[in-house]
Order: sequence, then C-alpha cells, then structure tokens
Amino acid sequence: MLNFELYNPTNYIFGKNQIEKLASLLPANAKVLLAYGGGSIFKNSIHEQVTEHLKDFEVIEFGGIEPNPRFETLMKAVEIIRTEKITFILAVGGGSVIDGVKFISGAVNYEGNAVDILKNRILFKDISKVIPFGTILTLPATGSEMNSGAVITINATQEKLTLGGSALFPKFSICDPTVIQSLPKWQLQNGVVDAFTHVLEQYLTYPQEAMLQDRISEGILQTLVEIGPKVVENPTDYKLASNFMWCATMALNGLIQKGVASDWATHMIGHELTALYGIDHARTLAIIGPNLYRVMFDSKKEKLVQFGERVFNIKGNSTEEIAEKAIVKLVSFLQEMGMETKLSEATTNYSDTANFIVNRFEERGWKALGEKQNITLEKVREIVEMSY
Ligand code: NZQ
Ligand code: ZN
Repeated sequence: MLNFELYNPTNYIFGKNQIEKLASLLPANAKVLLAYGGGSIFKNSIHEQVTEHLKDFEVIEFGGIEPNPRFETLMKAVEIIRTEKITFILAVGGGSVIDGVKFISGAVNYEGNAVDILKNRILFKDISKVIPFGTILTLPATGSEMNSGAVITINATQEKLTLGGSALFPKFSICDPTVIQSLPKWQLQNGVVDAFTHVLEQYLTYPQEAMLQDRISEGILQTLVEIGPKVVENPTDYKLASNFMWCATMALNGLIQKGVASDWATHMIGHELTALYGIDHARTLAIIGPNLYRVMFDSKKEKLVQFGERVFNIKGNSTEEIAEKAIVKLVSFLQEMGMETKLSEATTNYSDTANFIVNRFEERGWKALGEKQNITLEKVREIVEMSY
C-alpha cells in the first residue's frame, strides 16, 4: 500500500430533519450568501425550510447556478460577495451548486485573473484565503458534499476543468435522504451511475495490496447494484434512499482512494463530452467507461476479474473469460440503470469527437492518463472511437 494522509474536516450530518441544525452550524453573525441552482428548491419546499432556519441571519440569495456550473455565472456571485462583504456561503443543491460554491469560495480573494484558477488548476490550501461554506445536499451523486474537488465549465471556450485543494472542504454538509423524492427518474439514474463509476475509477486499476480499500469499494458497488434499480422506482423508500445517499458520499469522500493509484481517465474524457455536447455527466461515464476497460484490458484484467467475481459473482475458466464477462455485465447494469452506452445514442454530430479530444489533451500538455499513465493519446482516440 502507498503512504497516505487522511484529512477530511467536513462535519457530515446525515438523516431525516437534520436541516433543523442549520442555524447552530453557522458562525454567529455570519452574513450568508444562499446559493442555489435553477429553482428545484422552490418546488420541493427546501428553500422554505432553509430560509426558516436562516431567519436570524442576514442573507443574500444567489440563484441560477446551472448544471455543469459556468465560470461566467459564478463570477457574478464572486462580485456580490466582494461588495456585500459576505462571510459564509451556503450551497443548497446537487454537485453543480456545491462545485460552483467551491469555485466562488476560492475566487473571491484570488489575486489575478480568476480564469487561471481553472486553466492552471490552482489548489487552495490556505483556509484563511477562502470564504467558508456549508452545503445542503439535494442530489446524491458526486460526493462533492464531502470532498474538496470541483468541476467548472468555461462557457466561452467550452472547457470543463477542475480545481480543488484542502481549503475547499465544506465546513458541514446536511444530507437528508428524503430530498431525493423530488428528483426525476433520470437524475436518480445519473446519481447511481456517477457514484458507481467513482468507485470504479479508484478500484478498477491493478492489484495494489489495499485489501480494506478493495473490500469497502466492493461493498459500495454491491450495495449500488442491489439498490440502484429499486431506488429509481421507489425514491420515497427511506431504506433505499438512505443507503443510496451514503454510498454516493462514501464513493468519493477520499477514503477508498487512500493508499492506491487511481485512474480517472473515464472522467477526464467524459468531461469533454459534456463540454462539447452537454451530455449529463453520468451519461458520459456510461459511454466511455466500458470501452476504456476494453482498450486497457491487458492492464486492468486482474482487477476486472476481482470485480467480476466479487461484485457480480461471475464464474469462468480463465482470467480473460471472467474479465470479459465482467465488462459485459457492467454494460448490462448501466443499461438497466437507463444509460445510453454509445455516443451515437446521445448525440448525432460526433464524427470528429476523438480528434477534437486528443487535440485538446495535447494542447493542455497531457501525454497520458490513468493509474499507470499508460492511457496514451492514441489509446484515448481508440476509446472514444470505440464509443461512437
Ligand atoms: O438546478 P436545480 O433547479 O436545483 O435542478 C437540479 C439540476 O437541474 C436538479 N435537482 C437537484 N436536486 C434536486 C433536483 N431536482 C429535483 N429535486 C431535487 N432534490 O438536478 C439537476 C442536476 O443537478 P446537478 O447538481 O448538476 O447534478 P449532479 O449532482 O449530478 O452534479 C453534476 C456536476 O458535478 C460534477 C459534474 O461534472 C457536474 O458538473 N462532479 C463533481 C464532482 C466532485 N465535486 O467531486 C465529481 C463528479 O465526478 C462530477 O464530475
Ligand atoms: Zn463523476
């Protein structure tokens, strides 16, 4: 196992009615920016509940953070914080609102052009330089409620880029599983698949002697296989909802990534598909993931076997046979979860996508991706072309 440090300061508050704790979690006399998305929180009464618990605080609202949050929109919030002297941000939403707030938090005191935070992937490590923030999660999927990463889209250049750093963990996250009741089915499907893929990015690599991380990963995967198809049909079932929400957080709160090299190439390629075609994040992962495992088969086959045997109970006579069956089973799980697994099912205008992505990675100076840095740009091309 590799050496590691485990640092996660987020106060994670889970369960029904936990929003009641909101006022006690905010710093006394905080001047709060209440940040949210396109308005779902007005339809499911979350806005009403939040404002009820904020009544003793001075609050300014900032709505309109879009899915795949845009730099251009977020900079408006940065200006408001500077002029209004906001001291705390409350993100109420899914991964997009929370990610957007992480960017805002870092950008307010950033000296220089804020777009460089994304272009140069600035890491925020000094807690005194960022605006503290908490979250109320409304969509289990990304794990953003308990990690310090974020993904932001620059609309002007159609790029989707990451930022992060240890200063960008939420101070607290209130995670009430009943919030999923108002999510449309396709968003629930997205949530399950995003969480599932987060585990695969960290687990489906090569044998790394991290026995506990593997078992925890397999536990999350098995739980998602068991509850995923059911929770999208029965989001009011608290047993399903609570296990789904906890799986999504555990999939990307840093725990299973400790001590191992992880992949993330499915995400890096997937982000390009969202930036180019607006395809939902999780759906890009379902299109790319299985083909990445096919192209990188030799490099990943031992772990594909472990995944197949332990998660799907697959039997076979050889490593190759079990590993191949594991990919087939993964595809059928993704399809069961309502995913398109080909780019041509999600967009029509895709013929030059592989070239475009490879050129972009080249421009950014990326030579190779993956846990062994062996997903070369030629492999990226092959993966994307296989995904058409
Ligand atoms: O904007 P509103 O009106 O709130 O509606 C949202 C949005 O349209 C809606 N929604 C959220 N909660 C709801 C609800 N509708 C009804 N009831 C509720 N309770 O759902 C839509 C999608 O929301 P969004 O926040 O975009 O979804 P998600 O949580 O999947 O976040 C996706 C973003 O997170 C990034 C993705 O790239 C993407 O930009 N990711 C962030 C990660 C991280 N920070 O660690 C890791 C992930 O891999 C991912 O890249
Ligand atoms: Zn993801």
